[in-house]
Amino acid sequence: MHQDKLWNEWHPVCNAEELKDDPKQVFVLGERVVIFRNDKGVHAFKDLCIHRGAALSLGKVKDGNLVCAYHAWEYNSEGTCEKIPALPCERPIPKKARATVYHCEEYLGLIWVNLGDEPAPLIPYPEHDKEGYRTIICGPYEVKANAPRIIENFLDVSHLMFVHEGMLGDANHVEIVDYDVEFIDGRLITSKIPVFQPNADGRSKGGYTDYVYEVLNPTTARFTKTSEGSDEEFTILTAVNQEDDEQCKVFMLLTRNYDLDQPDEPFREFQDVIFYQDLDVVESQKPELLPLDLQMEMHLKSDALTIAYRRWLDELGIENGTMPVGDEKRNQIRKLKSKESAR
Ligand code: FES
Ligand code: CO
Repeated sequence: MHQDKLWNEWHPVCNAEELKDDPKQVFVLGERVVIFRNDKGVHAFKDLCIHRGAALSLGKVKDGNLVCAYHAWEYNSEGTCEKIPALPCERPIPKKARATVYHCEEYLGLIWVNLGDEPAPLIPYPEHDKEGYRTIICGPYEVKANAPRIIENFLDVSHLMFVHEGMLGDANHVEIVDYDVEFIDGRLITSKIPVFQPNADGRSKGGYTDYVYEVLNPTTARFTKTSEGSDEEFTILTAVNQEDDEQCKVFMLLTRNYDLDQPDEPFREFQDVIFYQDLDVVESQKPELLPLDLQMEMHLKSDALTIAYRRWLDELGIENGTMPVGDEKRNQIRKLKSKESAR
C-alpha cells in the first residue's frame, strides 16, 4: 500500500482568496477535484457528477449547494444529493446519489485537500500567527517535475553558491561544514548550517547566516535563517502539490519578523527570481522519480539532509517518489484494506 502516506497528507491547491463564489477545478495526485465555498466553509468533492459524469466544477453554488451544470442535481456540503429536478416530487432521491467527498481546509491563506480516509494533522506553522511576524504567499509556481525532486532542491544547501550566486551564495565561500540531521517529533531537522550570504542589494559585504532545515512530510519542508547577534528571522515554507504525474504546483510562504513596514513586493520578486533560477535544473533531472536506492547517484557528506530525506521516503514506503494514484490504484488499495479488516 505504497501511496497511503501521501493520500493521507494535505496538499495545497490554491490561494484561499482565489476561491470565491464559483466552484473551482483542481488536481491532486492525479485526481480531478472540485472545491467550493459556502457559509459552512470550504469543501472538496471528486469532480464528477454521479448522474452522467460531468465535471461538477462546471456548475455553480446555489444556497450553499453545489449544482451540476448538466441536469442541475444539487449536492449539499456533505455530498448528499438534495434535489433532482427531473424527478417527479413524489419519488424519493436514490441513496446512491452522492458525491465523493474529500477533506478540505482553509489554512495559512491556502486551500488544502486531503484524499485519504485517515487524514494526517495539518502541518504546523506557528510563525504564521505569531505577533510581530508577517507572512506572504509566493507562487503557485508550475513545475514539470516530481514533488520529491522539487523538495530536494529546496533542501539542497550546496547549490546556493552556484545557481543563486550573488543572491543566496558566494562563489568564494562554497564549502559546507558538517551538520547533523535528526528525526524529532515526526520530522527531519538539521543543526545550523552556516552559509555565506552576499547580500543581494550590494549595500554590504555580506556575512554568514545559519540555515535550519526541516522536512515536515514528503511534500512539505521549511527553513529558517538567523544570524548571530540579530533577532531577525526569515522562514520559507514550501508545500508542493503533485497534480498529476507530469506537473506540480509549488506554494511558498515567506515569513519575516523585520522590515514589517516595508512593502512585500520586493520579497516576492526576489523569491520569483530564485525560483526560476532553479526551474531549469529541476526540470532537467533524470530519472524524474527521485531514486530512493542510495546506490544510485552519488552522495557527499554535504548531502546529509537529502540522503536522510530519501531514506525517510523509502521507510514510508513511498516507492519511487510520489507517482500519483489513479482510480485504479485507489480501488486496489481499498480492496486490500477491506480484505485486511475482514480478517
Ligand atoms: Fe450532473 Fe446530470 S450529469 S446532473
Ligand atoms: Co535553489
